Amino acid sequence: MALEFSERIRRIPVYPAASGYSLGEEVAMLASNESPYQPLPEVIEAASRALTGVNRYPDPTNSALRRALSDRYDVPASRIAVGNGSCDILLAAGEALLEPGSEIVYAWPSFSVYPHLAAASGARAIEVPLDGEHRHDLDAMLAEINVATRLVIVCNPNNPTSTALALDEIAAFLDAVPRHVCVMLDEAYCEFSLLEDPDASLKLLDRHANLILLRTFSKIHGLCGLRVGYGLCGSEDLRVALDQVRQPFFCNAAAQAAAVEALRHSDEVTRRVELNLAERTTVEYELRELGLQPAESQSNFVWFDLPDSVDDRQVVSDLAARGVLVRSGTALGREGALRVTIGTERDNERFLAELRALLQG
Ligand SMILES: Cc1ncc(COP(=O)(O)O)c(C=O)c1O
Repeated sequence: MALEFSERIRRIPVYPAASGYSLGEEVAMLASNESPYQPLPEVIEAASRALTGVNRYPDPTNSALRRALSDRYDVPASRIAVGNGSCDILLAAGEALLEPGSEIVYAWPSFSVYPHLAAASGARAIEVPLDGEHRHDLDAMLAEINVATRLVIVCNPNNPTSTALALDEIAAFLDAVPRHVCVMLDEAYCEFSLLEDPDASLKLLDRHANLILLRTFSKIHGLCGLRVGYGLCGSEDLRVALDQVRQPFFCNAAAQAAAVEALRHSDEVTRRVELNLAERTTVEYELRELGLQPAESQSNFVWFDLPDSVDDRQVVSDLAARGVLVRSGTALGREGALRVTIGTERDNERFLAELRALLQG
């Protein structure tokens, strides 16, 4: 007799993870918006030191990391949630806030994990289409908020479209959202944006107890393999709820130690932002030379529609056969588009050469 799984198992979409992790060194990994740069030696050392103590459980309160984040952002440690990657905090927000009868509002296409929150909780998902420039349509999102709304997610910059909104637009949106609704501003890529200093959104926390700024060590700090992210919360109640729904010891000792060390190297953050910008500018220029129109990227990846006659899934599989891994728009919510991570100069050149050969050959 077949096993009987819960109703929610039938609802929860399978996360469209990129493939290719077993293919070895020679592949250009441009499919998962990872950093092409290895962690700094000091960060690796800190993680290695932590490994010598793993006969003990990690600090369940993540106290050193929360203190370091508190010093860095001037937000009380009691309002900082740490997670096993920022996804952990996203899922926790779903569990803490959603239930059948409630609603969650987010833009679409946006980060593939958001639909999971509604499916897992039985809440209703309201997906609001992006505008013609691949950006969030905040007015349309606002119009969807009602008494049943518990959580609104704004992804800024947005994955997979790479676009960002200016902070004053988000500030005006927050002013209009009712106080009973939690707003999660997912800023996984905020360091890459030229629109705003990444610290600029912190001031919103003082005005909005219902706000969570979601951030991660996975992208600019290049620590996605260790899994550590954090949420800066507008109120302690939010942080407590996020911790309450999770297992204890959700963030491992090596991740905590590496993150504390990574925070000491803001110069490296600046260097990586500059490297990304230089490479992104070249990739965008070359895409335009191919007659393509990339969205205005404020991230470490680009997003563009392919010519009408071209199937994005076919391009992804042809590129993979040539050793270049990227993501198809179909897998991420919009048929006919591609999302390509900015990598090293060598990987980017390889991607551009193979795409050129495919489209012109
Ligand atoms: C918009 C966005 N938010 C959150 C995450 C989750 O990152 P992590 O769980 O590695 O912190 C990602 C990962 O790609 C993302 O694109």
